[in-house]
Amino acid sequence: MGATDGEELAVYPGSFDPITNGHVDIIRRGAKLFPRILVAVLENPKKATLFSVEERMEIIREIFKDPPRIEVEAFHGLLADFTKLRGARAVIRGLRAVSDFEYEMQMALMNQQLNPELETLFMMPSARYTFLSSSLVKEVFALGGSVRELVPSIVEQKLREKFAADPESLSI
Ligand code: PNS
Repeated sequence: MGATDGEELAVYPGSFDPITNGHVDIIRRGAKLFPRILVAVLENPKKATLFSVEERMEIIREIFKDPPRIEVEAFHGLLADFTKLRGARAVIRGLRAVSDFEYEMQMALMNQQLNPELETLFMMPSARYTFLSSSLVKEVFALGGSVRELVPSIVEQKLREKFAADPESLSI
């Protein structure tokens, strides 16, 4: 790998518990700007998640099995370290509304402090996804609402499987 290879790589980090159509939208937009997008799935043993990191990665791989092909990897620890290790120069984050801004700005500036070579790029999802979040998807599904328009069909299927195996699992 050459020294400049990483300049073509953008990392899109998140919890993706589960991935929503809003995330998919951002990945597709990012893939138009960068030849390589690496979706970095946070593995945090301290945070209770509905889907294991393996399940979350498997779902994302399934969604992107056709072009645009993207890479998927788990990471733990500092994002600034992970991006350095992978030689990435950019992190992509979606900004849905002003309410996202403060937290995102803090993270971006902290990452800049930790790795001055790293740039954070904010992208807007399509307006129809600005209200969407993984936690709302889980809540709506757990309460019997339809998530068909909100997540890829594989996610809906996996939510159904989780719920069938353990109805309590969705109450996190
Ligand atoms: O989908 P999320 O939960 O909004 O993603 C948050 C994520 C994974 C991007 C953020 O929590 C993160 O980067 N965690 C890694 C730990 C880290 O680097 N913390 C310091 C940056 S402020």
